[in-house]
Amino acid sequence: MGFPRFFCYASIILSISAYLFPIMVNSIGINYGQIANNLPSPEDVVPLVKSIGATKVKLYDADPGVLSAFANTGVEFIVGLGNEYLDRMQDPAKAEAWVKQNVQAHLPATKVTCIFVGNEVLTFNDTTLSDNLLPAMQSVHTALVNLGLDKQVTVTTAHSLAILETSYPPSAGAFREDLIDCLSETLSFHQKTGSPFLINAYPYFAYKGNPKQVSLDFVLFQPNQGVIDQATNLHYDNMLYAQIDAVYSALASLGYKKLAVHISETGWPSKGDEDEAGATPDNAKKYNGNLIKLMSKKTGTPMRPNSDLNIYVFALFNENMKPGPTSERNYGLFKPDGTPVYPLGISTNDVVGSNTTAGGSIGNAVTQPSSPTSSSTGYLSISSANF
Ligand SMILES: *[C@@H]1O[C@H](CO)[C@@H](O)[C@H](O)[C@H]1NC(C)=O
Ligand SMILES: *[C@@H]1O[C@H](CO)[C@@H](O)[C@H](O)[C@H]1NC(C)=O
Repeated sequence: MGFPRFFCYASIILSISAYLFPIMVNSIGINYGQIANNLPSPEDVVPLVKSIGATKVKLYDADPGVLSAFANTGVEFIVGLGNEYLDRMQDPAKAEAWVKQNVQAHLPATKVTCIFVGNEVLTFNDTTLSDNLLPAMQSVHTALVNLGLDKQVTVTTAHSLAILETSYPPSAGAFREDLIDCLSETLSFHQKTGSPFLINAYPYFAYKGNPKQVSLDFVLFQPNQGVIDQATNLHYDNMLYAQIDAVYSALASLGYKKLAVHISETGWPSKGDEDEAGATPDNAKKYNGNLIKLMSKKTGTPMRPNSDLNIYVFALFNENMKPGPTSERNYGLFKPDGTPVYPLGISTNDVVGSNTTAGGSIGNAVTQPSSPTSSSTGYLSISSANF
């Protein structure tokens, strides 16, 4: 990757976007995964994050280079403690040392607002790992309390949507029976400490699992008739909202009707294996572009219209070293050289009161043949989203 070229594209995008995104910067977050050996330096990533109007970034670790590069940018961070840390974080001294070094050291210049402890732990079906989850979360929280940081930094974990046994209709959403004891304890922790419940939700998995029956328009936020949940009479015109409402229903059934739910990952791959239906640049562009437009309207789901979903798109880059099917390496909005994998298609028409063709030129100026690169972590398939 040539730095000058990268820098040039980034500047073009940045200057256009400063004009394009005045009202779109509200609540888009982006996952910055780094399972790759060809990504640009964190300093070069700052303008890319800004170019898509993202104000929040989620890391899977607490990469000091990234946290320093984003100092004084106003961008908020969720940092991660991988599953391999759960065991040792139960030791209060180790938890405190970690928080000091990885969070406190960057405050207040870099706004770290949340630590997520463990990724999709419960759906690994590993009892030891699951048993360690809450104690590790508690220990990290206690460290924050001791350091006087618990008011500004919350502690949570990210779940796969596969923690649901039933996801359709949304009103029937329910957690897997065998996870309820463990989940209940973490839910109580969220309530006591005021931290959000994070869920990774991928309508793509539902489509891939059942391309003949799942309506592509419904999963891609395209115009469609939608479906009505007979129990609530609520109308759904996209699968993501149906999935999120299934989570709300599952939480409500355990007595947590008000818990904040944030979408820690969602996205669509631009490339996949032959048996991965729907993984195309056009579909990825529709999914992510429509999602970002929808978020700019700041509406919640049919069940909780006023909630702020805090959606984190997966992901910033294609990540060439992710294992698994080809789709796993192709969730990125950007190639490692900083050029878009596809035009996001956010036109100025989405911005009230303006009309230019600059939006189109974001894509046109920099679109190039895409090369395999890549993206995400959460690829456990969802248990049940049958449409
Ligand atoms: C975990 O267990 C559930 C329920 O028994 C099963 O459906 C799922 O496939 C398992 N997941 C893994 C990753 O083994
Ligand atoms: C912008 O406005 C002009 C006229 O004011 C109109 O002809 C054109 O179609 C509009 N462009 C878009 C992309 O809507």
